[in-house]
Amino acid sequence: MGRLDGKTALITGGARGQGAAAATRFVQEGAKVVIADVLDEPGKLLAGTLGSAAVYQHLDVTDEDQWQVAVDRTVTEFGQVNVLVNNAGILHFAALADTTLSDYERVIRVNQVGTFLGMRAVAEPMRTAGGGSIVNISSVDGLAATPLVIAYAASKFAIRGMTKSAAVELGPAGIRVNSVHPGMIDTRMVSEALGGAEMPTDWLKEKLPLGRVGTPDEVAEMVVFLASDDSSYSTGAEFVADGGATATHALKI
Ligand SMILES: NC(=O)c1ccc[n+]([C@@H]2O[C@H](COP(=O)([O-])OP(=O)(O)OC[C@H]3O[C@@H](n4cnc5c(N)ncnc54)[C@H](O)[C@@H]3O)[C@@H](O)[C@H]2O)c1
Repeated sequence: MGRLDGKTALITGGARGQGAAAATRFVQEGAKVVIADVLDEPGKLLAGTLGSAAVYQHLDVTDEDQWQVAVDRTVTEFGQVNVLVNNAGILHFAALADTTLSDYERVIRVNQVGTFLGMRAVAEPMRTAGGGSIVNISSVDGLAATPLVIAYAASKFAIRGMTKSAAVELGPAGIRVNSVHPGMIDTRMVSEALGGAEMPTDWLKEKLPLGRVGTPDEVAEMVVFLASDDSSYSTGAEFVADGGATATHALKI
């Protein structure tokens, strides 16, 4: 018996990275999954490998109308929506003084506005389904500060606050809302933000309690937990998967 038997999930940014890992684990745990992304080819390919339990749906999370289409598709395809994973995200590295308004707004639109639109779009169908679970992917940059990520940090702090507000509002309808705060995870997000360059990771051995980068699967396990009834008494809370990054601070020697 799977931990997500009988549940239907919509996962944004599901074509690759952490979203793809979550989609794969969700299907293994018995869920039906709608993989939503702007990367149509890898998204369709992944859905194909997961069989009849998964379909791909094009969704730009910044687009209000596309959200309606994606939620309608989820309900038409699988009968209901019980889980939303707001995972789609982008990163932009720049010093505060060099961050253009358009770069700032681009990051906010995907990470923050996308999360807002997603929660709003599923609230009613989840209420109709008798409850549900919304998992919002924030970051350690939504808990503490690092340089060169002013827009990203703003969006990830916002997700943390929006999660709590929605949790308080939607709790009486049986809808739980939690945020996940990954540390440095081995996906293409950072290297793409660096224009294709690989981020060195040797320094993590010294700095980080667990001494290494995390894997998408390690975050997916936490997302499965939050989507499942195993976390039935958790809402409005922050869950870290960061190798201990936020357990320490800048004075660590
Ligand atoms: N990789 C890390 O170190 C790290 C750390 C903390 C948090 N996160 C967060 O985890 C989440 C997943 O990122 P990842 O590491 O798997 O990176 P990734 O770049 O591999 O995946 C992000 C996915 O989001 C999709 N996406 C981007 N813009 C979109 C849009 N407008 N509409 C729909 N989909 C869109 C991308 O196409 C991609 O499939 C993000 O929210 C990211 O901010 C990542």
